[in-house]
Amino acid sequence: MTGTPLPPLSPLARPASALDELHFAPRLLMGPGPINADPRVLKAMSSQLLGQFDPQFRRMMRETMVLYRQFFETQNDWTLVLDGTARSAIEMVMLSAIEPGDKVLVCSFGRFGQLLNEIAQRCAAKVRVVQAPWGTVFDLAQIEAAIKDFSPKLVAVCQGDTSTTMLQPLDGLGALCHRYGAMLQVDATASCGGTPLPVDAWHIDAVTAGLQKCLAGPSGASPISLSQAMASAIYRRRHIEDGLQPAGYMPGAGQRIASNYMDLAMVMDYWSDAGLNHHTEATTMLYGARECARIFVQEGLPAAYARHAAASRAVVAGVQGMNLKLYGDQANKMPNVTGVYVPDGVNGDKLRAALLNDFNIEIGTSFGPLAGKVWRIGAMGYNARPDCVLQTLAALEVVLAAEGHRFSRGAGVDAAYASYKDGGH
Ligand SMILES: Cc1ncc(COP(=O)(O)O)c(C=O)c1O
Repeated sequence: MTGTPLPPLSPLARPASALDELHFAPRLLMGPGPINADPRVLKAMSSQLLGQFDPQFRRMMRETMVLYRQFFETQNDWTLVLDGTARSAIEMVMLSAIEPGDKVLVCSFGRFGQLLNEIAQRCAAKVRVVQAPWGTVFDLAQIEAAIKDFSPKLVAVCQGDTSTTMLQPLDGLGALCHRYGAMLQVDATASCGGTPLPVDAWHIDAVTAGLQKCLAGPSGASPISLSQAMASAIYRRRHIEDGLQPAGYMPGAGQRIASNYMDLAMVMDYWSDAGLNHHTEATTMLYGARECARIFVQEGLPAAYARHAAASRAVVAGVQGMNLKLYGDQANKMPNVTGVYVPDGVNGDKLRAALLNDFNIEIGTSFGPLAGKVWRIGAMGYNARPDCVLQTLAALEVVLAAEGHRFSRGAGVDAAYASYKDGGH
């Protein structure tokens, strides 16, 4: 047989362990996400299942919409939660909004910009990519020049690209896109909840998120919000599947969306009063998504952003105190993740393994050109707390010293502690 060999699948060393109860070492997840879930989210997710058309469940769906409208600072009716991880939401929006041959401008400043490009290509869009060097972001003039030249239907960009830890300023971008007749799609998976994202004020047409970062939940459900223009562009492609068409059904004028599962027009019908039986809702994920937003709204947006900013300042002070160098343009750093160069003479992966095995603490490496060269230390969601940050820095000091890195012992943790004392939590 010729062809592409299938990927390797090593056998389980001790097959009988498949019958063991789950029992994990308690990790502190201080990488770029996922992070530890807030126990309130886990508790909500252990609630008993309901039928998806039970009035209690439908009310809970509406409550979830209300909560995410507050989270995204939007009046958008079409603010809901999709089943699937964050990339499925990016893909669902793009596949449903973009007809083959439509033009999409991707503004890429890292690995997740590459993902936007990859998804747009798979939607059969005509794609142009503008690239900012890794470790930097765009100024709006660069994007405006590309829009003028290309006249896209959709502009797609990340707010925070976790791979580089950079945060793209978005204020003004939506208005700019609209001036040239384009819509704006934003991937805010990694940033929302850690930094402001006023969807209406910034005129964003589609925003997609995930729970596993600043929202303090597990991956697997993706909050989104659609402007009226975006919702209408998607709904004009509504083609209800054969077995579900109601009496008097008329398909939309637009081309049928290429995937059934990813058909956002049918998902809108599912969330609407029509209650189309499109899929079986991922019940417990939705319980979790609701609780994530409830925690956030109860804390208050400004307080949550301040908590992430304080964690960011403490991590920065801590790593600088350890004689480590920060990665990227610090003026545009994401507050919830910090990129740090692996110092000369230190094996970045070996150090991460020591943190994990000896301290139960996980930090991240990065992708592509940064793999093995930059660590990513996250402090977000449930873990954007002084105890988590200080514990991580203390452990980092120990393993850095063991690897022979030269710095003044204690200086990093002291600096982070002082940063918290000076600036509040
Ligand atoms: C900026 C960004 N976009 C998209 C994704 C993809 O999210 P998921 O793994 O939940 O599909 C991630 C994941 O880390 C991310 O950081």
